[in-house]
Amino acid sequence: MPGSGLILAIESSCDETAAAVVERGARTLSSVVASQIATHARYGGVVPELASREHLRAVVPVVRAALAQAGVSLGDLDAIAVTSGPGLAGALLVGITYAKALAFANGLPLIAVNHLEGHIHAVLLNERSMPDGNEFADTEPALALVVSGGHTHLYLATPAEGSWHYSLIGRTLDDAAGEAFDKVAKLLGLGYPGGPWIDNLALHGNPKAVPFAFSRIKTKLHLAGKAPRTKAAKTAPIADLDPDFLFSFSGIKTAVLRYVELHNLRPEAESRREALFMGIDAPARPTIENALAQCEPQTLDLIASFQHAVVGDLLKKTFAAAESLGVRRILVTGGVAANRELRTRFTSEAARRNVSVSFPTLALSTDNAAMIAAAAWPRFVAKEFASSELSADPSLALGR
Ligand code: KG4
Ligand code: ZN
Repeated sequence: MPGSGLILAIESSCDETAAAVVERGARTLSSVVASQIATHARYGGVVPELASREHLRAVVPVVRAALAQAGVSLGDLDAIAVTSGPGLAGALLVGITYAKALAFANGLPLIAVNHLEGHIHAVLLNERSMPDGNEFADTEPALALVVSGGHTHLYLATPAEGSWHYSLIGRTLDDAAGEAFDKVAKLLGLGYPGGPWIDNLALHGNPKAVPFAFSRIKTKLHLAGKAPRTKAAKTAPIADLDPDFLFSFSGIKTAVLRYVELHNLRPEAESRREALFMGIDAPARPTIENALAQCEPQTLDLIASFQHAVVGDLLKKTFAAAESLGVRRILVTGGVAANRELRTRFTSEAARRNVSVSFPTLALSTDNAAMIAAAAWPRFVAKEFASSELSADPSLALGR
């Protein structure tokens, strides 16, 4: 129904098939996420071919469920939105193809959304949906830290005439922070994705036990024109960015491995954990209690110290960038934004500096389609529609 303000969004960039119906980028009528974690867990990471197959299986029922839960039909919609990148090519194509078919068959406009912009709008959606609507949500510039399994990027997000502009301020040169959580969890024999397990187990260790350090990034190699060693979206040359706002998380994973070897952390405990998470000998699904029972105090200290160091590095560089840009509003989003230590420390640092910091709800931190529908709304208002030629762009960049 033209003028309803309802957008149906589909997200399939990685390992969640998601669909949502959101009204005017502010009111979520439904948000359905079918996770593929069980499929990928036994491989310790996302297997792209399996992801595409699972999306194909899930996309129709997930969209149906989103419409049913919202209590609307296709005829009630104003537009269809879909993630066009960055992400896995085959996975993105499943969502794009289905979104195109739905748009064409129902005479609806199609809106292409950048997944990273979606993550930023997860926070804005949250703010816009506050009881009296937050005026602040779409008027104040913000520094956005997008911290997920694929990205660790800092953007200056500026509202302009109802839409948003983004400029890249900092980024990781190699692994994303979430990737470091996943790799460290894997090497300790914990489950996939590793972030939530580390988050929970870290509560039981001493964060000061192992003094991991992040040295200042040397950009000489990158200044020579070498591309960053990351699978993430292609972005502005590293040389244009302030080295103080660059991240690198591949070193800490090696440091954790070295610590495990050096301290001979009991390999049999690691294989017991592995058996627990791989479902071998496991009496039931792994719980925090039985994972905890398989971790000796030294391993818990290592986990807590790793998390403390990663969060500390994200915190230091994000607040330094905000100060240097003179921005008094920070948005933190992406899967790692679900982390408890991160939320606590960012919140107290923001209070100390008298700046604001916001996060999405926990459900909107990890991949979902409500954030895609929210990001699509300003594009709908501006009539920025995708052509029928729309294709997947696995390394789609955000901003300049
Ligand atoms: O945003 P997301 O769902 O997918 C990507 O776009 O990558 O983020 C997934 C990432 C994974 O690396 C996962 O381990 C991490 O977010 N993650 C967490 C937590 N929950 C998810 N990392 C730390 N603490 C958490 N509580
Ligand atoms: Zn994501």
